[in-house]
Amino acid sequence: MHPLYLDNAATSFPRPAEVVEVLSEWGGRGSAAGRGSHAETAATDDLVLACRTAIAELTGTDSARHVVLTSGCTESLNTVLLGLLRDGDSVIASRLDHNSVLRPLHHLQQTRGVSTRLLDFDPESGILNPDQLKQLLADSPVRLVILNHGSNVIGTIQPLEQLVAIAKAAGALVLVDAAQTAGHETLSFTDWQIDFLSLAGHKGIPGPLGTGALCIKPGREDLLQPLMFGGTGTQSESALQPSQCPEKFESGNRNTPGIAGLLAAANWIRSQTPEAVGEQVQTLSQQLRDGLAKIAGVRVFTPDSGARLCGPVAFQLDALSCHDAAVILDEEFGIQCRAGLHCAPLVHDTLGTSEQGGCLRFSPGPFLTEADIRRAISAVAELIGEVV
Ligand SMILES: Cc1ncc(COP(=O)(O)O)c(C=O)c1O
Repeated sequence: MHPLYLDNAATSFPRPAEVVEVLSEWGGRGSAAGRGSHAETAATDDLVLACRTAIAELTGTDSARHVVLTSGCTESLNTVLLGLLRDGDSVIASRLDHNSVLRPLHHLQQTRGVSTRLLDFDPESGILNPDQLKQLLADSPVRLVILNHGSNVIGTIQPLEQLVAIAKAAGALVLVDAAQTAGHETLSFTDWQIDFLSLAGHKGIPGPLGTGALCIKPGREDLLQPLMFGGTGTQSESALQPSQCPEKFESGNRNTPGIAGLLAAANWIRSQTPEAVGEQVQTLSQQLRDGLAKIAGVRVFTPDSGARLCGPVAFQLDALSCHDAAVILDEEFGIQCRAGLHCAPLVHDTLGTSEQGGCLRFSPGPFLTEADIRRAISAVAELIGEVV
């Protein structure tokens, strides 16, 4: 029985062949971007620029220089949260947020008195409440609004353009967490006037682990203190960290093999188009959600409300804890999935799944077929048949 990987919300698998090929090629090469005076260095510089440009195109960002390459969405989010927020600042986040947002905010509350108010989502629709956002913005001044674009638990995609417009109209800065949606959704960073957009390079964009990016609206880099200081290969005579993008936020040698893989993954998405990849994942998610919902003893949390879906489908079994079910699904049925809170504890307060330790999550990727989804649904039905 071959394994069926349903954990793409954690990281993508399989990855396109061209991603795997360039990882091994660049892993064996000896040159560092921005350092050295030989042809290999120039080739590496070209690679890094090509990667920035590809990410800029995928996100609708006008300035490739304002695409900072990071180790993942967590680093991108921390670069903004820790770099921007100061004593007494007020932030709006939401119950859909991942711990890569919630934990830095908690740390900032403890260390700098940054206060956070949380937007709710409707469990029936999986969508954040725009009227509540307007109300919170009207109640008191807000420095930053953080918007989760696609939930890594229930899979719903927010009407981002509308929510960004509400926040911008109130004069707040906006940080978008597009960890789950970049590569699957059309993004218009510049046109929608987003200030910061953080993404993972290894989820919706099927690049290697340890890759990600942060898009910064030109000029907004001046608002951020860098998290790290060090060599950038530029202005080396100065004791000061360069003030311009991307060097301000890219100290130390870059992860060139990862960047080569990220470029190959971004090019793969561009060749397919994000719309087509997103559509395929959406179709599989809907099939999964609808099929699971028909099984007696399964409670599905991914809404059937017409909201767009980015992959993850969340559910519980009446007869078995999610952790036990995940182990049996792996060992007996070859289904690789995830159980628990999925690093997004507040989602479960709203769903009412905290006490049971969270839920099961199946997250399909673009290489799966409808037959794979039927196999996953049958495995759950069979498992329930075994235990009741
Ligand atoms: C919504 C969301 N934000 C942020 C992250 C963190 O991403 P990374 O693993 O690239 O740091 C994840 C990872 O699961 C996520 O799902």
